[in-house]
Amino acid sequence: MAEVIIVKSQDEAGEIYARCVADLIAAKPNCVLGLATGSSPLAAYEKLAERVKANSIDVSAVRGFALDEYAGLDPAHPQSYRSTITRTVVEPLGLNPDLVHVPNGALETIKDAGAAYDKAIAEAGGVDLQILGIGTDGHIGFNEPGSSLASGTRIKTLTEQTRVDNARFFDDDINQVPTHCITQGIGTIRRARHLVLLAFGEGKADAIAATCEGGISSLCPASALQLHPHATIIIDEAAASKLQNADYYRWAYEHKPAWQGI
Ligand code: F6R
Repeated sequence: MAEVIIVKSQDEAGEIYARCVADLIAAKPNCVLGLATGSSPLAAYEKLAERVKANSIDVSAVRGFALDEYAGLDPAHPQSYRSTITRTVVEPLGLNPDLVHVPNGALETIKDAGAAYDKAIAEAGGVDLQILGIGTDGHIGFNEPGSSLASGTRIKTLTEQTRVDNARFFDDDINQVPTHCITQGIGTIRRARHLVLLAFGEGKADAIAATCEGGISSLCPASALQLHPHATIIIDEAAASKLQNADYYRWAYEHKPAWQGI
């Protein structure tokens, strides 16, 4: 079972993530970070950037692999995940852009792009720490409900719900939201050594309850985290509001010995 940490704010969650990543970089300067887009990781990236600057952490060898990309969207489009990762992670942290990879959504090559991406991750030695958001339907990456829990990086069709959720990034116009994507598979994500999933707000409460306390099912792709040996789920009170064991998670975190780590 994943560790569930209930926090007061996105900033508090971000601090925990930033601490984990700073410790990782200190131990392994060329570590491999798994990167997500969307709104959930933004405070975490900001806190990490603050920590990198304040402590003059050398990030020149840090490598990164993003989770997903829209199919057929120009990488130069401001809402492509290539642009988003550049804007929210690479630039604020001062990472070497040549070491940060995003799946290639170009339609001409997309059929082979998934296998090539998984090969590149394996050749990099695997992802050390993967940050994740979660969709209101329980998706991680763009693995929509019904995705194989063993899947590799591949093309997926977005659900109507995900396109509605993401229309906010496209002038609130669902017609501008691409219909397809290329995403790391759940099998790919599960190979990362540490998973940190962030979720905030009441809209995520059902998905979080299914993830943490429901059965393991492709209907809730994030429930695959229950199979992972090192998964940390950091959520606010609203996202935790439908958890049966919330009091236990709070107690366990409040009484956590330092030696246990995150
Ligand atoms: C983003 C991604 C998605 C998002 C999810 C939640 O790279 O893979 O799974 O993490 O859709 O999005 P937000 O954080 O915007 O609610």
